[in-house]
Amino acid sequence: MTWQVDVLTLFPEMFPGFLGYSLAGRALEDQRWSLKTHALREFGLGRHKAVDDTPFGGGAGMVIRADILDTALEATKPEDDRPIIYLSPKGRLLQQADVVRYASGQGAYFICGRYEGVDERIFQKHTIEEVSIGDYVLSGGEPAALILMDACVRLLPGVMGSDQSGVEESFSSGLLEYPHYTKPAQWDDYAVPEILLSGNHGAIASWRKEQAENATRQRRPDLWESYQGNRK
Ligand code: ADE
Repeated sequence: MTWQVDVLTLFPEMFPGFLGYSLAGRALEDQRWSLKTHALREFGLGRHKAVDDTPFGGGAGMVIRADILDTALEATKPEDDRPIIYLSPKGRLLQQADVVRYASGQGAYFICGRYEGVDERIFQKHTIEEVSIGDYVLSGGEPAALILMDACVRLLPGVMGSDQSGVEESFSSGLLEYPHYTKPAQWDDYAVPEILLSGNHGAIASWRKEQAENATRQRRPDLWESYQGNRK
């Protein structure tokens, strides 16, 4: 089944962007996922097709009008159970578990904002999940939507060469990844850890686990704490 993405945006030409390349690009060609953009501008008012206005109460920037967004949503929103996701730094911080949940569904409908955001009343009328991809502010939702899509598309069946590499990696285990090495075994003064050349698969697995645990404890105490919590 095709994982279906719709995007409501002022900049349809930003899509599929980098998702037209590599694994995601091939998967798009192979129709493992589909992408449809909807130009918010088409629902704008007047000669300039305006979609935004100044904020009540004053302040900098412009706000996307709820009535215009609503008309666009009503005309283009999915008729199936796909979630409607609004990308915003105010949203819930995206986790790999959310990505897994989205990827295992039918797809998603993304609303990309620009300017100062959208009139809050849109969230009163529609069921919209607000999602942030990190604690920093982008100039718009489009790059965030692309990143969320990328994280989902790589999990779709048949998209990654080896299915195992999607599973055995950072965050799905709750740990950061162990370090990787390839040829040459000796490069300048730097040798590959001896154990990886031993052929002892049990010992290699233990070494990797220990490396992953050490990296997580040192670099991400927050992940380490919840990893330990989950093991209890
Ligand atoms: N739009 C602007 N900044 C964002 C962020 N950090 N996450 C999601 N959408 C955004």
